[in-house]
Formats: sequence, C-alpha cells, structure tokens
Amino acid sequence: MVIRDKNIILGVTGGIAAYKALELTRLLKKEGAVVWPIMTESAKKLISALSFETLAGNPVFDDLFRPTGGTGISHIELADRADLIVIVPATANIIGKIASGIADDTLTTVVMATGARVLIAPAMNHRMYENPIVKGNIEKLKAQGYCIVGPGEGELACGWEGKGRLAPIEEIMDGVGECLSTKDLAGEKVLVTAASTREAIDPVRFISNASSGRMGYALAKAALRRGAEVVLVSGPSALPVPPGVTFVGVTTASEMGEASIRYFPQSTIVVMAAAVADYRPVKRHPTKVKKVSSLLTIELERTQDILKEMGSKRNGQFLVGFALETEDVVDNASRKLKEKNLDMVVANSPRGLSSDTNQVTVIDRENNVEAMPPLLKEEVADRILDRIVKLKKGVLK
Ligand code: CTP
Repeated sequence: MVIRDKNIILGVTGGIAAYKALELTRLLKKEGAVVWPIMTESAKKLISALSFETLAGNPVFDDLFRPTGGTGISHIELADRADLIVIVPATANIIGKIASGIADDTLTTVVMATGARVLIAPAMNHRMYENPIVKGNIEKLKAQGYCIVGPGEGELACGWEGKGRLAPIEEIMDGVGECLSTKDLAGEKVLVTAASTREAIDPVRFISNASSGRMGYALAKAALRRGAEVVLVSGPSALPVPPGVTFVGVTTASEMGEASIRYFPQSTIVVMAAAVADYRPVKRHPTKVKKVSSLLTIELERTQDILKEMGSKRNGQFLVGFALETEDVVDNASRKLKEKNLDMVVANSPRGLSSDTNQVTVIDRENNVEAMPPLLKEEVADRILDRIVKLKKGVLK
C-alpha cells in the first residue's frame, strides 16, 4: 500500500548483481510503483538498458545532457518527482561518491538534487566492504538518514566467500516499504482533529454530522508511523484510539476549540480533519423537550471557527484545513485557504464522510492543485503528509 503510485527511481550501478535489479523492477511494478531506471555507464556494460525499459515501462535515464528518451523530463524534474531513490546494486564507488557529495553523472546528480529518501543496497567484494573507508562512507550515509539494506553473506562473484553479497530482493522490497514510510516527520509535533462534534439540544438529543473520524485517525496513525509526536483531539467516534498518540476526547465544538488551542502553540503541523459543528443551539434544555406543539424552532448560534482563530494566531505552524464542497471545489476551497490563512486545504465531498474511501483535491498556498483518485483514507492520509513534507522543505513550489 505504501508503494502504490510512488515514483521510485531505480539506480543501477556496475556490480555483477545488476541483473537482480530486473527482478526488483518487476516486483516494484507489481506493487503499483512508477519505476524510473537510471543506469551508470558501468551498469550498461553488464546488462542491457532495454531490459529495464521493457520491465519498467519507462526509458532509462543515462545522459545528463539530454532530457530523457523523449519524455522531456530533466534530471532535476526527475529528482523532484521522486518519492524514493533505490540504488541496487550499490558499488563501493557510488557509495563513496554520494558520501563525498560528488555529482558527475545522472545518478549522482539526481541523488544530490532530490528531497526524497535514498535506499542503498551495497554489493561488492568482501575486502572492499571491510575497507574502513567504505565502512566510514556507509556510516556517514546512515547518519544522514539514508536507508541501507544488506549486504548479505555468502558466495561472492569474485569467487570469495564473505560479506558483500547483494541482500535478497525480498529484503530490499521490505526495505523500500520501510524507507518510504520512515521518519520524514521526525521532530515534528502534529496536532490532528477528527470526527464530528455534538451540540446538545436537551439531555438526549444533539446536532451532529456523519463524520466517522476515519480520515483524522488515519492521519494521526500515519504521522506517528512517520516519526512525529501526535496529539489527536477527537469528537465521539467508534474507532479505537491509536496506540502511541496523546488522545484528547471531546464532545462539543467549544471543547474541541479549547483542547486544540491548548496544544496549538507547541505544534509544528496542525491538520483540522474534524467536521466541527458550525452552529449550536442557543439554549440547551435542562430536561427532555416534549412534543407539545406541531412546530418546533431551535435557534442556533455560530460556534467559534477554531481553524480561523489558529490562522490568525499562527507562529510558524503549518496549517491544514478540510473543506466539504459539492460544487466549484477548487474556487471554494481556495477561498477558505485564503480566508483562514492556511498552507493547505483538502477538499472532499460529502460522499467521503462516513465511507472508507475518499476522493480529495489538495490545494496549497503555492496554488498547486492535485486531484487524487478515490483512495482508501489510509492512502489519502499518506499522500497528504507527503505533500506537507514537500511543501515544508520547499520542494513543491
Ligand atoms: N472548522 C473549525 N471550526 C469550526 C468549523 C470548521 O476549525 N467551527 C474547520 C474544520 O475542521 C475544517 C475547516 O474548518 O478544517 C472547514 O471549514 P468550513 O469553512 O467550516 O468548511 P465547510 O464546513 O466546508 O464550510 P461551509 O459550510 O461554509 O462551506
């Protein structure tokens, strides 16, 4: 699920295990990834570019000075587009170049220019692997947040036995999943609101809406998995409290406002996914309202717009709102983005309210508009967080 629709650059370097990258391409495609192969000159001496092009369904990027194979995509655009770069196999040479910041071919240039995470699967002779310079380079990359998978132990292409074999492809696939969802929100304090609020009419009746809370809970869980500290302020919901989050259960809009504003100053990212009541009864009857008259009028007053208040008080927080729209989606949602002083707004339709899936359009302060297909809310959550990470890093402009 994490891999589906992700843009994965597959860097292939000149190790004997280069042929195993073909199997990786096949598995990545099977999981729904969009694979962009890049081959180094040495890799092309060992294996044909055509095999990668055929399996990936995309041309091989191998010439820094030629926008690739008729796609018109430059290496910088490719670096921007990537969700992950996977280098399989990674020789001592490529590891050394990346660790030293060298960018002298397509692969190293794309690695230097990307905001995406990079997974490296080393494969080399055991003495090379044990060389303190290579070991030091791998440690340096680990410390920079690179994902390293393997190497494994066993028979090596050079005839020796030892540590240096490319990790099994299944292990690299697991590493891809983990690296894609690893800690790109580490250090962030994320406040998520979820579900509906209830505004009491009398002790047994209330005004509410059909929000299940699933979108907000999915956002809280995904943010936690990606390394953030998460506070979840939730209205009534049947969903289990995600382990690991700081949970604040509330009922009314005013309670949600109080809890959210309390956690707001220390938050770095706020996602208001709750469907907060816009109005509440002016009067809450202390006893059950009896059916005495044929017409009953309930007078309503506006609740506090929590998000708008945050927008006016913000001090470095990244603010995301939701908008429920039935028509003129982009115009209406963009207006809310400006009125509430937000960084991003996620527009959805009422159909998503109590469903497992959601079809959303994300609009950000840079006027980027992304209309997503209908997806499980868990996938929508990860995609929203992907865009937040990119916008915060200034990668999306
Ligand atoms: N929101 C809020 N406080 C409220 C009402 C809404 O913080 N009292 C937040 C919601 O959590 C959501 C966003 O504001 O992130 C929705 O904005 P709103 O203008 O209420 O959107 P709609 O409900 O779609 O508005 P309208 O009915 O005016 O189209």
